[in-house]
Amino acid sequence: MNAWEGGGRRIHMQEVGTRDGLQAESAFVPTCEKIALVDSLARAGMAKIEVTAFVSPKAIPALADAQDVMRGIERVPGVVYSALVPNVRGAERAIESGVDELNLVMSASETHNLSNLRMTRAQSFAALCEVAGLARQAACAVNISLSCSFGCPMEGNVAEDTVLAWCARFIGEAGAGGITLCDTTGMAYPTQVAALTRRFRAAWPDIELSLHFHNTRGMGLANVLAGIDAGADRFDASLGGIGGCPYAPGASGNVCTEEVVHALGLMGYDTGVDLERLLAASKRLPELIGHETPSQIVKAGRRLDLHQPPQDLEAIRERAHAR
Ligand code: COA
Ligand code: ZN
Repeated sequence: MNAWEGGGRRIHMQEVGTRDGLQAESAFVPTCEKIALVDSLARAGMAKIEVTAFVSPKAIPALADAQDVMRGIERVPGVVYSALVPNVRGAERAIESGVDELNLVMSASETHNLSNLRMTRAQSFAALCEVAGLARQAACAVNISLSCSFGCPMEGNVAEDTVLAWCARFIGEAGAGGITLCDTTGMAYPTQVAALTRRFRAAWPDIELSLHFHNTRGMGLANVLAGIDAGADRFDASLGGIGGCPYAPGASGNVCTEEVVHALGLMGYDTGVDLERLLAASKRLPELIGHETPSQIVKAGRRLDLHQPPQDLEAIRERAHAR
């Protein structure tokens, strides 16, 4: 495979801005605005949307309205509506609200798992097996997001073998149908992404693999391309590039959905996403969150959004020819 030639290959874009993005914002986005945002992303053609998180409202007040958002959205056929769930309580709330997929989260790094989820990884794993059992009974799909798969801001490098060993346990023992390798704080780099993706794909060709990058060090889009080259076809991204884990020092926004869709479209990939609609949704974000977003495409426009030449272009041309 060669990432430089899309050749119409399908890449699934998975929006996480309404979860990963809004959880990091201090402003509480009104429930009706969250619903409108999810609906506009679905209509723009996102393959999957992580609508919200069913976490403790004390831990993440920005997403305290998870149930109302989930119940209020329009269900566009073909779109998978997912939600982050940390525990049994969250799973019960999510299932009751009708989510298609539970996204369970654990960290590949012990220190990050303790600071984010207040449990050891072994405790998290046992708890998540129970949650996965609940999901199965409710015919709800289970995805596992493995935070810090490309490095931990407190521990440093996380060994590939450690990451893959947790993947093996989640697939084999918890029955996960999908795994997301998360670069929680933007530590991933392209050659590392390619190596881990190849090993994952070789071990589990039929498990849904997603890659989740943050653009903290400007390597987001390069990592996406490296992932595609190594066989990945599902990517998390956030509208406007907002986001970041509140329990990870120095975390910042996800790769920006419109930047990835714009680049992959030019390269001949089929993301199924209508960039025009995506940009319209992204342009509304600053008003909702109270500040500008990092989106370069909102700032600069698309590659072929052209500008007027100078008004006196003809005069310039004549003078130039007369020289
Ligand atoms: N939904 C709603 N409320 C929840 C909940 C859930 N999924 N999980 C816990 N709670 C509530 C409990 O009812 C309890 O409320 P109370 O104080 O009114 O009795 C309170 O939260 C604490 O519960 P406890 O079981 O002691 O959990 P904890 O304090 O150890 O918190 C987490 C554990 C992980 C559930 C919580 O810290 C959390 O939701 N964190 C958010 C993690 C996150 O989203 N990180 C970013 C994404 S990677
Ligand atoms: Zn993230």
